[in-house]
Amino acid sequence: MSEETKIITEMIVGASQKAREETSNEPEPELTQPLQWPVKAMIGPGLEGAIACESKIGYVNGSKGWLIYRGYDIFDLCAYSTFEEVSYLLLNGDLPTASELDNFKQKLVSYGFLNQTLRLLMSSPVESMNTMSAIRLGTLLMRRTITPLDLEDGNPFRADFINCDEDSIPMETAPKGEVHAIYEFKRPSDDMDNNEACIHLIAGLATITAAVARIHQGRMPIEPDPDLGHAANLLYMMTGRKPTPVEERIMDIALILHADHGMNASTFAAMVVASTLSDIYFSVGSGIAALNGPLHGGANEQVVRTLMEIGGPENVPAWVKETLSSKGKVMGFGHRVYKAYDPRARVLSVLAKFLAETNESIKPLFDTAQSLEKEVVSQLGTKKNIFPNVDFFSGIVYSCLGIAPEMFTPIFAVSRVSGWTARILEYLENNRIFRPRAMYTGEFNKQYVPFDQREGKK
Ligand code: CMC
Repeated sequence: MSEETKIITEMIVGASQKAREETSNEPEPELTQPLQWPVKAMIGPGLEGAIACESKIGYVNGSKGWLIYRGYDIFDLCAYSTFEEVSYLLLNGDLPTASELDNFKQKLVSYGFLNQTLRLLMSSPVESMNTMSAIRLGTLLMRRTITPLDLEDGNPFRADFINCDEDSIPMETAPKGEVHAIYEFKRPSDDMDNNEACIHLIAGLATITAAVARIHQGRMPIEPDPDLGHAANLLYMMTGRKPTPVEERIMDIALILHADHGMNASTFAAMVVASTLSDIYFSVGSGIAALNGPLHGGANEQVVRTLMEIGGPENVPAWVKETLSSKGKVMGFGHRVYKAYDPRARVLSVLAKFLAETNESIKPLFDTAQSLEKEVVSQLGTKKNIFPNVDFFSGIVYSCLGIAPEMFTPIFAVSRVSGWTARILEYLENNRIFRPRAMYTGEFNKQYVPFDQREGKK
């Protein structure tokens, strides 16, 4: 760790001490024991309280505000680890040795070159697409295996493939027969096992997200720099500028913080798709789709828009009064599991403060955020256990790093892909298709009426 980034480590250690003073040190026995199926649980709407599976990957203690990855406290990982190490940990269960980490990093770099995928992606109107739909499309395009240009020895079988390059992308006539349709039906798993595909996806999502950011700025995508780490490369490929050690460290911490979070909606969506023995690329695509919603990862973008709309700390009390009296939700607050302060918000809050203090254009947003936090916590903290969540301060941090709001949720996906893939791999070891039931509250025994005898029809 460089001298310049020591101050960041100290800030996280400080946030961690504060969190430990405010919380006790006991896990919840009912959520940390091996399961004996069937399980009895009190289930609320939205599957609240339901237990979907056992997992060794991560644990969220909502009443105390803990987040644990594979036994390690999130504060320690933020203070001392890197996103590459954390991704390895989530996928493999243990911290890597030096050579394991080196090998993992090399794979991330080499899988980060996605020229074919980007070329396919850029045949769509990425510049006018919603950024989350663009990264979802890019992820699905990574799924293909061999295209003619991917073949090491040139293009000997050009005629056997549906050509996906340049002029011939749109097909005016349907492919005739299986030979021509082979490109559609060959799956990456023919070439790449799921373990390898996880690393491909973790590397690829960063490249795709950065390319989408560049295209939205009206610029061409940039290839990764093999000498940079994952967080630095993400920033470099988005902005075209190599980040400072402080910027790199802060992005690394943001990626660590978002990497896994229990059975959240996007993880569950990804796992449901994987449980059908569908493809891991499709599963991650479903995770991205679920993450997009404003009740989940989409909240981070909404927070910054809300802070801009409020316009300054002096307007906060009136804005909160109006929002709560009209039963509106304040984006970046509340959580299904956390009924205490979200530990991720504790870390991001100190990072946002640190960055905003020297950033004149973002400082007013941070001041508004602090005032909003105080107001919402004073009104809803004790009454409804509502505190800031991970999305409340992340947008301010990203804004200070020069990232546009439309890229905040894609960056969440760049990180969460580690958790999605780790949990998919773990679940597939003992797979059973997810298939709950709904209580039918409709009618029975209705008489079918032919169309022409229905009221109002001839
Ligand atoms: N602002 C105002 N009131 C809230 C908020 C909020 N942000 N969140 C919850 N409440 C109230 C809600 O109105 C309800 O009150 P009442 O019982 O009087 O009807 C009560 O708290 C319970 O809320 P809920 O919507 O039933 O809780 P939930 O567990 O279904 O939803 C949530 C959790 C995160 C979707 C919700 O808190 C919310 O919509 N928050 C705002 C969006 C947000 O910040 N999402 C990011 C979540 S963290 C990152 C991630 O997972 O992606």
